[in-house]
Amino acid sequence: MHNEMLHHPAIPVPLRNFLRSHGQPLPAPLAELETSARDRDVPIIPHETVDYFQTWFRQVHPTSVLELGTAIGFSALLFSHLMGSQGKVSTIERAPTMIDHARANLAQYDHHHQITMLTGDATDILSTLTDTYDVAFMDSAKAQYIHQLPAVLARVKVGGTVFIDDVLQGGTVFSPETEIPHRLKGIHRNLRQLLDSVFAEPDLTATLIPLGDGLLMMTKNADKAYHF
Ligand SMILES: C[S@@+](CC[C@H](N)C(=O)[O-])C[C@H]1O[C@@H](n2cnc3c(N)ncnc32)[C@H](O)[C@@H]1O
Repeated sequence: MHNEMLHHPAIPVPLRNFLRSHGQPLPAPLAELETSARDRDVPIIPHETVDYFQTWFRQVHPTSVLELGTAIGFSALLFSHLMGSQGKVSTIERAPTMIDHARANLAQYDHHHQITMLTGDATDILSTLTDTYDVAFMDSAKAQYIHQLPAVLARVKVGGTVFIDDVLQGGTVFSPETEIPHRLKGIHRNLRQLLDSVFAEPDLTATLIPLGDGLLMMTKNADKAYHF
């Protein structure tokens, strides 16, 4: 589960280090969970992205999040903390070991039962959902983002926001495909298609935030079925 791309940050290392050491502190349980995940190389969102979410959630005040990729539940717990006791998170995870860890963490820290974990493959589970959300956070299998995005957008309110993490492949997503190692060509192609499609879609307002390995952010502007 090691994310080699996190060692190639999109921003200069001194700037990344500044952001990692000067952000707003997390409450003790979340800070401990973050430290223990990093110590064990569990692939949670990088700290500069944690800080970005701390700022953004306090400006926008969303009350519901759909997450793809729970891992041990760190970002789901972060979102519920940032939304306050009225906030709700539905989070999807398929890996049995992660599900066990997340269940233990949610039992310990999700005091107000704000988080619902849905277990199974995200593509299958998306087709069963009926609620709509203020925010979707896609943080699962990068090659699947382009295929899952239409179903995710269908579950987001008009005016709502989709964040997609780790879209830059250490900046190589803009390199010619001939320079990409064979084992990474599929991910490269799908991420490139994702970026091109999202920025070309007139009913999405998109930007790319160079934090971690790149955080793609878009606002859903129309009540329609999106196709890419
Ligand atoms: C980067 S981690 C998520 C980290 C988490 N969002 C955090 O920051 O605390 C990605 C997770 O997505 C899960 N995953 C990958 N593909 C998936 C899929 N198709 N359906 C459900 N979960 C998936 C992996 O098992 C892994 O635990």
